[in-house]
Amino acid sequence: MPDTITITDDRTGKTVTVPITGGVFPSSALRELDPSLFLYDPAFLSTASCRSEITYLDGDNGVLRYRGYPIEQLAEHSTYLEVAYLLLHGELPNQAQLDEWTYEVIHHTFIHENMRKRFVDGFHYDAHPMGMFVSSLAALGTFYPESKHIQDPAIRHKQILRLIAKSPTLAAMCYRFSVGLPFFLPDNDLSYPANFLNMMWKIGEYEVDPVLERAMDVLFILHADHEQNCGTTAMRVVGSSHADPYSSAAAAASALYGPLHGGANEQVVRMLTDIGSLDDVPAFVEDVKAGKGRLMGFGHRVYKNYDPRATIIKQTAYDVFEVTGRNPLLDIALKLEETALQDSYFVDRKLYPNVDFYSGLIYQAMGFPVEMFTVLFAIPRVSGWLAHWQELLDDKDQKISRPRQWYTGVDERTYVPLGNR
Ligand code: ACO
Repeated sequence: MPDTITITDDRTGKTVTVPITGGVFPSSALRELDPSLFLYDPAFLSTASCRSEITYLDGDNGVLRYRGYPIEQLAEHSTYLEVAYLLLHGELPNQAQLDEWTYEVIHHTFIHENMRKRFVDGFHYDAHPMGMFVSSLAALGTFYPESKHIQDPAIRHKQILRLIAKSPTLAAMCYRFSVGLPFFLPDNDLSYPANFLNMMWKIGEYEVDPVLERAMDVLFILHADHEQNCGTTAMRVVGSSHADPYSSAAAAASALYGPLHGGANEQVVRMLTDIGSLDDVPAFVEDVKAGKGRLMGFGHRVYKNYDPRATIIKQTAYDVFEVTGRNPLLDIALKLEETALQDSYFVDRKLYPNVDFYSGLIYQAMGFPVEMFTVLFAIPRVSGWLAHWQELLDDKDQKISRPRQWYTGVDERTYVPLGNR
């Protein structure tokens, strides 16, 4: 059987045959048939918007790999900083490369004092930390006007370092502002996750627990990239206009903020809290089936099987609970998962727990307020966004993103003066 697809325009009888490569055929086939013909594909269900070598995802079989490495192996053996290097450079670093990369990142963790004084301190006292984080990313770019020179490799590299290094600092700053605590400066003797936890929680005597440090690192690894999701697509679309990476990352973070995307982990904990007891799980599931809301943390556009990240997170949750004590919501989550996975509504629709189903329980047990959950997702996703941004800028096939539309409005009509309407 040939690996080609033939499309016939029945209006003209014209036929075009194009190759299918890796399950994809070029849209140039349509343009060849008729340049004014467009594919109607809301939410990009059948559109590959780019070629990418970064992350492989097989949703039917629950497979996720960064640059070819299975997520399970990276979560067991790697660190977030090493994974960030891998995503951006395509290969795991050797010792010298890792040392240099780590040195560079930790030497960019501090933030200009005016960033805190004039921007972060300017937010309303009850501002949502994710709203603050999104705006802070964009504001950060104004401190580095050279960041507009996106084609200069040295400048590009510097902004990548800055964004990865400063994201935890900004996140902790947003949190401490929201609870009225003085900001705590980065400690560059600590690892990337330990430094973040220290900036979050340090008041007087505080030492980062190594189990929680490792759990944070694993969560960062699991969230670092996930190919063309809503946030990464926002990064690519805005980046395609050659905006600076801070503005593009702010757009990506805005997309992540939504409850159907990275905001779901916050909604999961709110949902479990609302359910309140094991006895109320069946009634809640019936409500979801009746269309009264969604089972947050379930379902995924691509995974039609267990999200492999959810499996790792579930295990990490038990490690964390050894230190923090068991999160009482865990039992409700387990019952909810069990009930849903035995119900034909969820089975038939292939709805399984996604990355957000258990991550919120860990975050909550570690002391993070629910408002911080999406920020915790965003910190490591910055490296994935930047890897895609870099790939986009170096991809000769890419141009400014500009989809077409199917106009369904009224035809031309004559303006009616106000008095005659
Ligand atoms: N609870 C109940 N029903 C659901 C759920 C859910 N969580 N998710 C999907 N469905 C149902 C839909 O109602 C639809 O049913 P229908 O065929 O009878 O109309 C069917 O399953 C298919 O759902 P779609 O909305 O078409 O799937 P889509 O791929 O567009 O949505 C999404 C994916 C947004 C993740 C969805 O599953 C959802 O809303 N989940 C809850 C929010 C969530 O957990 N988001 C985090 C995703 S992971 C991430 O972004 C990091």
